[in-house]
Amino acid sequence: MALTLLTRTKKPILERCGDDYSTKMRLKYAPFYHAMEAQSGPHVRLNGREMIMLSSNDYLGLSFHPKVIEAGRAALLQWGASTTGARPSNGSRVYHLELEQKLATFLNREACHVSIAGYISCMSSVAAFAQKGDLILADKNIHSCVWDGIRLSMATVERFSHNNPGDLRQLLKTIPHQTPKMIVVEGIYSMEGHIVHLPEIADIADEQGCFLVLDDAHGLGVLGRQGRGTVDHFHLNDKVDLICGSMSKSLASTGGFVAGSRELIEYLRTHSRQTIFSAAISPGQTACAAAALDVMQSEPQHLERLWRNTRRYREMLKGLGLDTWGSETPAVPIVLGSKELVYRFWQALLERDVFTVMSIAPAVPPGKDLVRTAVSAMHSDEDLDRIAEAMAYAVKKL
Ligand SMILES: Cc1ncc(COP(=O)(O)O)c(C=O)c1O
Repeated sequence: MALTLLTRTKKPILERCGDDYSTKMRLKYAPFYHAMEAQSGPHVRLNGREMIMLSSNDYLGLSFHPKVIEAGRAALLQWGASTTGARPSNGSRVYHLELEQKLATFLNREACHVSIAGYISCMSSVAAFAQKGDLILADKNIHSCVWDGIRLSMATVERFSHNNPGDLRQLLKTIPHQTPKMIVVEGIYSMEGHIVHLPEIADIADEQGCFLVLDDAHGLGVLGRQGRGTVDHFHLNDKVDLICGSMSKSLASTGGFVAGSRELIEYLRTHSRQTIFSAAISPGQTACAAAALDVMQSEPQHLERLWRNTRRYREMLKGLGLDTWGSETPAVPIVLGSKELVYRFWQALLERDVFTVMSIAPAVPPGKDLVRTAVSAMHSDEDLDRIAEAMAYAVKKL
């Protein structure tokens, strides 16, 4: 036994994990992975203290809507907890098809495919359609799920500067016209809160024959009529080939979707490994998303409230002289420019019972280290008063 211990070969991967600097820093400063002990709407309990949640993406505040909760409960009772398998192997369920139909209609598309995570849907929107020899033109600030899709596709990638159609056009000048091309953008950039310059980008895609993919995880529920998203906001339905997104934000559930022509969605079902080999979204989560989609259409007050709160919140931050990176939407970054300032600001908000999330380089460009916040329709006027006090306190701590 002693001899075995002495001669055991080292495992470099184990050592790398044990020595990892980023993990050590994360554990030392503990900014992430907090375990809330309770939640009621936008209020959470952390270490016994009641806090206002200001970093989740429950834009419309539907995660506690009685109709959404009841739909999830009823689906669990009727269908059980899970389908425990992928749809090609043990079948879809009618509730999957119903949600896909509802989403396709809402987004003005022919068809839709729902999956267990927005990450999977958005990744597959690129990975399944681009291939070696193709060129992908990606806004340099797109979400990591899309970068993963790009990597999996084996296509060549060129980045254009953030939300800059001029740069995209310039880049395209250097590329042979016959190369199959894809452009990938987000509807609302999740970190920056910017709305994509879709009209210009869609024109370029048309002129240059580029397949256009839009990740509308943050646009759905926030922009457009009844929250139909970025494409509806710009009236550009026939210009975008594929819309993908998440159901974990305005739809108050989990899961993702890809929506497009019937031909494209059937192609996805044939070619996307993430789609073929991943278990189906559960009955409860499907039902919650479907109910949220109904509520979005029947109760306009949530969207109105979201934008009222957003305007008030942005004014508040502006009044304090904070840099919100020109955010135009409920996703509002507070750019502080260094990880030390971000940590101090985040900590001060926590002391005043407001929960936010830090985002530091390389997750954001150097010098753009920020505290990421998001307003919800569920925040009351009193919540916003308390947030204003906490922000003023945090500013003094800088
Ligand atoms: C722009 C964007 N796309 C996709 C996703 C992935 O969605 P999900 O969290 O539902 O997997 C996110 C999640 O943060 C996102 O912000």
